[in-house]
Amino acid sequence: MSEAKSTRRGFLTGGAVAAGGALLGAGAARAGDPAILEKQPWAQYLGEGVDARPYGYPSPFEAHVVRRDVPWLTADAVSSVNFTPLHELDGIITPNGLCFERHHAGIAEVDPAEYRLMINGLVDRSLVFTLSDLMRFPRVNRVHFLECAANSGMEWRGAQLNGCQFTHGMIHNVMYTGVRLSDLLNEAGVKTTGKWILPEGADASAMTRSIPMEKAMEDCLVAFKMNGEALRPEQGYPVRLVVPGWEGNMWVKWLRRIEVGDEPWHHREETSKYTDLLPNGKARFFTWEMDAKSVITNPSPQAPITHGPGPMVLTGVAWSGRGTIPRVDVTLDGGANWVEARMDGPSLDKSMHRFYHDFVWDGRPLLLQSRAHDSTGYVQPTKDELRKARGENSIYHNNGIQTWAVNESGEAENVEIS
Ligand code: MTE
Ligand code: CO
Repeated sequence: MSEAKSTRRGFLTGGAVAAGGALLGAGAARAGDPAILEKQPWAQYLGEGVDARPYGYPSPFEAHVVRRDVPWLTADAVSSVNFTPLHELDGIITPNGLCFERHHAGIAEVDPAEYRLMINGLVDRSLVFTLSDLMRFPRVNRVHFLECAANSGMEWRGAQLNGCQFTHGMIHNVMYTGVRLSDLLNEAGVKTTGKWILPEGADASAMTRSIPMEKAMEDCLVAFKMNGEALRPEQGYPVRLVVPGWEGNMWVKWLRRIEVGDEPWHHREETSKYTDLLPNGKARFFTWEMDAKSVITNPSPQAPITHGPGPMVLTGVAWSGRGTIPRVDVTLDGGANWVEARMDGPSLDKSMHRFYHDFVWDGRPLLLQSRAHDSTGYVQPTKDELRKARGENSIYHNNGIQTWAVNESGEAENVEIS
């Protein structure tokens, strides 16, 4: 143990190769390693030219880094969900091709030339915008997470799914380029009686959700780009609504119409679907803001420790629908001792944050947890605290602390401790 610690010092001061080698006891083997001594196949021929890959894809060696679904969760793939492979990612941005998908009626393939957005209802003048009309309003760029209210929903009654991709992967974090919804609404002229908007999708489900006018005017975007390029069809091409910090269900994709009304449309069929049922049979309504939450992505069940004891990097993500994440705590022993993790990367409002804990693993079993603090002072609760407050009938808004049990071989498992 003390030996490992002193070696780590060398590791951190720059002797990465030597210290890492000494620590792993692999330095001698590496000295004669054919992988560094011999000319590899890829150095023996000329590679493909610049005309071979007009739109680039990841290396074939990364073919396992994909969205995955859980076939038994839903009856068919058209009204279903898949999950972001959080354990394969780093930093804070989710690559476009890996953003989880949640559709109620499959992916709509919208022709941008035929795309229209209508604003009607309690407005001075109904308006219909083409895509190029939208692009003539002043543009803004914002990085925000989108989390489905059902993320971690399968975990309410106990540890279920073995991997952070499945327990926490109904989230993505993307830079959007778009125009302010308030600019469009002001162009139409909202009447003083207009208190709610009802955005509607162009897909076969014609998804609709009510959003209070205050939020619509505050920071909602009508977005046409994600991470610099056009939205992907899966994410609502050509235009989706961005509702920063609020549950994913409101972020209507393939946005075709926004009706302005004087009351919410929630009393329609949506009421039953997107509320949190409490133990007393009553429901929590209007729980739109996503509470602060975090998860350790590495190590985790799909990403075991494969290098053995010694220096290692624990990492994860944290986010809050109410602001930023100034601090994340990490425990290696199921909550007996907590240490403050190292935050790294941009800290943006209602965006994912990245944390690290660099430590020396002595090879003993670990009980890993992370606990997010957001900029309002709110602290992520334990699952038991959540259940006490909300009961076990809930499906939505599970932001409880996740536990991974790591054994001596470095394998990790989804567990619950109390
Ligand atoms: N918008 C439309 N038009 N149709 C849908 O099925 N699903 C909603 C929301 N917007 C949906 C939609 C739900 S429940 C979520 S969680 C998010 O889109 C998912 O966005 P994503 O597919 O980009 O992950
Ligand atoms: Co959802």
